[in-house]
Amino acid sequence: MKKFTLLLALLTSTLAMADRIAIIGAMDSEIKILLSEMKEVKKEERATVVFYEGKLLNKDVVVFKSGIGKVNAAMSTTIAMEEYDVNKIIFTGVAGAINKNLNITDVVISDYLVQHDYDTTIFGSKKGAVPGSVDTKFFADKQLINIAKNSAQKVLGKNKVYIGTIATGDQFIADKKAVEALETDFGAWAVEMEGAAVAHVANLYKTPIVVIRSMSDKADGSAHMNYNDFVNIAADNSAKIVMNMLLEM
Ligand code: ADE
Repeated sequence: MKKFTLLLALLTSTLAMADRIAIIGAMDSEIKILLSEMKEVKKEERATVVFYEGKLLNKDVVVFKSGIGKVNAAMSTTIAMEEYDVNKIIFTGVAGAINKNLNITDVVISDYLVQHDYDTTIFGSKKGAVPGSVDTKFFADKQLINIAKNSAQKVLGKNKVYIGTIATGDQFIADKKAVEALETDFGAWAVEMEGAAVAHVANLYKTPIVVIRSMSDKADGSAHMNYNDFVNIAADNSAKIVMNMLLEM
């Protein structure tokens, strides 16, 4: 009997420790490789978002397309937290490059994220400060950052991988002046439209998160043209890094 109780306790604690990882992309192109590799898939729709629950490289995952922008990202992440009991979050996708060192298809892994379009500066707040939050910064998890970095270096090589600040807002940035402002105001390395919203929700739930973004464009005057040419290559880069991460988790 004692042996049985011990075995049961061991089994329960092992089960309790098993991760269930939310993997989120904003668009179909950002999750297509992941969906094609998933096994034992159970598909469910909530508020128009389709959640794919199952195994990816033997890990328990919930993969979904959040849709574009902060509201879609925050809403779908909240559903994942409440309905799918996830305990880690990885966001994968493309971004516009802000830092001059970056080339198209390079990868930025979030150290922290900011909501660059949050503006209550008229009341004396910092640009990007969310009223009620301590800071403008939504931090990524150190352990997930390390795993993402090692995986990205394996997939793309050392000189294409950076860790930096990611700025999020409900705008597609295609203007040199806006790029300069994001660098000056926030020290941003990359700009996109979902990451900080997901990180905001993750931080409120005290759930580890990392955002991985491969550059589809340089957020300047030709961003929309470069975006169309490189979005699929960049999206695949990021998804391959996520696959590699799962082997290390
Ligand atoms: N995602 C990819 N490129 C982007 C850009 N230039 N601005 C905002 N989000 C993006």
